[in-house]
Amino acid sequence: MSLLRVEKVTKRYGGLIANEDISFEVKAAEVVGLIGPNGAGKTTLFNCIAGATEPSSGSIWLGATRLSGLAPEQCARAGVARTFQIARTFGSMSALENVMVGALLKTHDMRRARERAQHWLEFTGLALLANAPAATLTISEQRRLAVARALAIEPVLLLLDEVMAGLNPTEVHEAVEVVQRIRASGVALLIVEHVLEGIMPIADRIVVLDYGRKLAEGTPAEIARDPQVIAAYLGA
Ligand SMILES: Nc1ncnc2c1ncn2[C@@H]1O[C@H](COP(=O)(O)OP(=O)(O)O)[C@@H](O)[C@H]1O
Ligand SMILES: [Mg+2]
Repeated sequence: MSLLRVEKVTKRYGGLIANEDISFEVKAAEVVGLIGPNGAGKTTLFNCIAGATEPSSGSIWLGATRLSGLAPEQCARAGVARTFQIARTFGSMSALENVMVGALLKTHDMRRARERAQHWLEFTGLALLANAPAATLTISEQRRLAVARALAIEPVLLLLDEVMAGLNPTEVHEAVEVVQRIRASGVALLIVEHVLEGIMPIADRIVVLDYGRKLAEGTPAEIARDPQVIAAYLGA
């Protein structure tokens, strides 16, 4: 059954069409990869799904809830969590406090928020860094911290925007393990990723954007041998 439905979404910035007539679905507990060259419109589409911006036309649904038109906090309450391409952690706050910011969207009980935050730090392998100021974490740890904070709002759909960029192979492997754990917990994922070694082995399906349009959609194997995708994205 489909969880997220993106229906004919177009997003214009003045004369520029960042997303053009894009439609696809994400089913419950499914992992869908969203790939495409720089400027293809991936982050814009995330912004539309998470309520950071509104599509110029088309609509976006999470089950029976229309997301398009809602504010970011309303989308979060509806069950959509995200990370940002440029990690937005509160540097002077501890890792635990950063995750509590997410948890406090679900509860106003500080003790409960602290417990849940601790749980998500453990889930992402950061338990030992709970009291460290976020600014002292490595890039890889900061990415996982952003994931922990997103998970703390207890979403049904998690949007990850290039969380593996710039990581070394060991760190990519750790990030992949976290994604597997998230999927096993029943949360659906839509993942923007340039690191193809990170996304191809774990995605059920891949959606390819190019110049704002959906160029292709299929299993990772289908996408990897699609001549149009190879020409546009992997380099002819
Ligand atoms: N807020 C904005 N205002 C104007 N143009 C934007 C804005 N956000 C994105 N764009 C443009 O939309 C296009 C798609 O950008 P983006 O969604 O960031 O691509 P990607 O994430 O695939 O690299 C780019 O040409 C970009 O310059
Ligand atoms: Mg982007």
